[in-house]
Amino acid sequence: MSTEVRAAGRRSWTAYVLALLLVAAITVGILVGLDAATTARKAAGRASAEHVPLGEDAVDPAEWGQVYPFQYESYRRTVDVERTRHGGSEAFQRLDEDPLWRVLYAGYPFGIDYREERGHAYMLLDQRETERVTSVKQPGACLHCHAAATRVWRTLGLDAGAPGTLEDPLGTPEAHAQVARGFELMCAMSYEEAAELVEHPVTCIDCHDPATMRLRVSRPAFLDGVAALAAGRGEVETFDSVQRWRESARESPYDPNTLASEGEMRVLVCAQCHVEYYFREPGSLVVYPWANGLRAEQIEELYDERGFADWTHLTSHARLLKAQHPAFELWSRGGHARAGVACADCHMPQVRQGAKRVSDHHVRSPLLNVAAACIPCHDASEEDLQARVAAIQDTTQELMLRAEDAVRSLVLAVRSARDAGVEDPVLATARDRHRQAQWRLDFVASENSMGFHAPQEAARLLAEAIDFARQGEISVLGARLAPDGD
Ligand code: HEC
Ligand code: HEC
Ligand code: HEC
Ligand code: HEC
Ligand code: HEC
Repeated sequence: MSTEVRAAGRRSWTAYVLALLLVAAITVGILVGLDAATTARKAAGRASAEHVPLGEDAVDPAEWGQVYPFQYESYRRTVDVERTRHGGSEAFQRLDEDPLWRVLYAGYPFGIDYREERGHAYMLLDQRETERVTSVKQPGACLHCHAAATRVWRTLGLDAGAPGTLEDPLGTPEAHAQVARGFELMCAMSYEEAAELVEHPVTCIDCHDPATMRLRVSRPAFLDGVAALAAGRGEVETFDSVQRWRESARESPYDPNTLASEGEMRVLVCAQCHVEYYFREPGSLVVYPWANGLRAEQIEELYDERGFADWTHLTSHARLLKAQHPAFELWSRGGHARAGVACADCHMPQVRQGAKRVSDHHVRSPLLNVAAACIPCHDASEEDLQARVAAIQDTTQELMLRAEDAVRSLVLAVRSARDAGVEDPVLATARDRHRQAQWRLDFVASENSMGFHAPQEAARLLAEAIDFARQGEISVLGARLAPDGD
């Protein structure tokens, strides 16, 4: 297949000729970036020209649907259920597809119920029904990414004495204080109590400013996380506005709503939720662990510094980390991110609606929609592109299965050493390697694009996982040969 990338702007001949005249000498990579930004600006401009301002109380998407019927109707299609080779939206039980994970998650709720994720319309339902909630006590913190909760946080915050009123625009210090206080309170509630307060899954107001229609981020853990990322040392080559902020006087913390470009916002609205997180105790506050950077080992370093573990493995007694859908983190290590290709370019592609181009709000696997999601940038047939993705995903899966096998071998080696009377302290190295190996394996496995978002980074992490697991196994053999540690 030709990997030649054509400018996304070749959507019409007029646009193409204009683009040629204006930027004949600019490389294709830059063209793609520029075009994405221009399209975004046009979309925003068009939206605000037609926009009937809505209020911060417009949580119900049906209200927006009266002004934007196309976006509303396509948003509602996230109820569709269709499977792809490695993904799609059928909520099958992953633990039955690949039972080895029951061994790897032993002692943790993910070992009892872990399904393939599906469309946005189901996020509240699936959370309420998972056995990880029905048979384990969970906090209100779970709702941070599964519900339209901003209004609820503000109301809770005001009731607890935060300043201002519900009419304050979201960007003001008063509204910020209301959200922060209410968020803290909701995180600490029981899941059942908090779930009573919310009504809608992610909705228009979670990504758009109701007054202007511009893209906006509002998740408190995301705003804190991204400010910590900016203030830290982690590389941000694919994040220009953070780089610029770092070079500035840094008078106030990095704020994406005022500093990020329109192109970046097409990523950040999704990075509000499709990321790694943990609960900071006491109070189960949702925290995005980005202070050292976005790479798997930088996140691990932060957890090590804080002595954090999600659980202790039932068999190896290693204190393990559970990776949670780090799509934003993995994407940021890939070629598409470097070329400025945003989540929305592939997952919410532009489609023709009469004379207009609009964003398909049926957020789903782009493999169900290659013609709109990939072809505008790639000079290739749909078949070629599907084959190209399958090659990346199949390779990732092969490596992943080897990594799973290696980690299982380590777990079994520890168990038989313990059965043979080797004491826990002698197995400390094996447990450390288990933590490192499983973190890298799970980072790729739970990310859900099966390596596509950053193929080389995914392969690197899986290779390290295999190596750490085998190192751990060798250390067990060593411990058994010389149980006194000489
Ligand atoms: C260049 C196109 C592209 C970009 C950019 C992109 N993705 Fe993806 N994404 C894909 C493909 C292809 C898959 C694999 C889908 C499959 O296997 O069915 C995928 C899978 C996913 C999945 C799992 C979907 C499923 O059906 O299992 C999620 C969630 C996701 N991406 C979120 C994101 C987020 C968030 C971003 C931005 C941080 C992003 N993607 C950026 C192309 C892209
Ligand atoms: C940081 C945001 C965030 C938080 C906090 C969060 N989730 Fe999710 N959850 C997601 C995302 C994003 C997905 C989709 C996975 C993907 O990207 O493919 C998801 C998927 C799920 C699914 C469907 C797939 C599966 O894993 O079976 C369930 C159920 C679920 N979450 C339950 C929970 C529970 C229970 C909690 C609290 C312990 C929680 N979530 C907290 C973002 C979050
Ligand atoms: C998960 C985030 C998200 C949600 C939820 C969301 N949108 Fe959007 N919306 C986007 C993105 C991304 C764009 C592209 C904006 C750009 O390129 O500047 C967009 C663009 C738009 C536009 C501009 C025209 C177009 O189609 O590109 C309108 C109008 C719009 N959305 C309406 C809605 C309505 C109505 C809802 C609720 C039913 C909604 N959106 C829910 C992310 C979202
Ligand atoms: C408020 C949090 C939130 C935001 C914002 C959000 N998502 Fe999701 N997303 C989720 C959750 C939770 C799920 C899993 C729902 C389930 O399995 O019930 C999910 C599922 C998905 C899926 C799987 C769909 C399928 O059919 O399998 C894709 C793809 C996806 N999201 C992409 C995106 C993209 C792209 C954006 C930004 C335009 C985005 N999401 C914004 C929380 C969010
Ligand atoms: C907005 C433009 C754009 C869109 C949309 C887009 N791509 Fe790309 N794609 C690029 C660019 C630019 C590169 C070159 C990246 C680089 O320099 O590494 C690329 C590279 C690739 C590669 C080479 C391997 C890699 O990951 O770097 C594959 C395969 C690919 N794209 C497939 C897809 C598929 C499949 C889709 C749809 C799901 C898609 N692309 C959507 C612009 C795009």
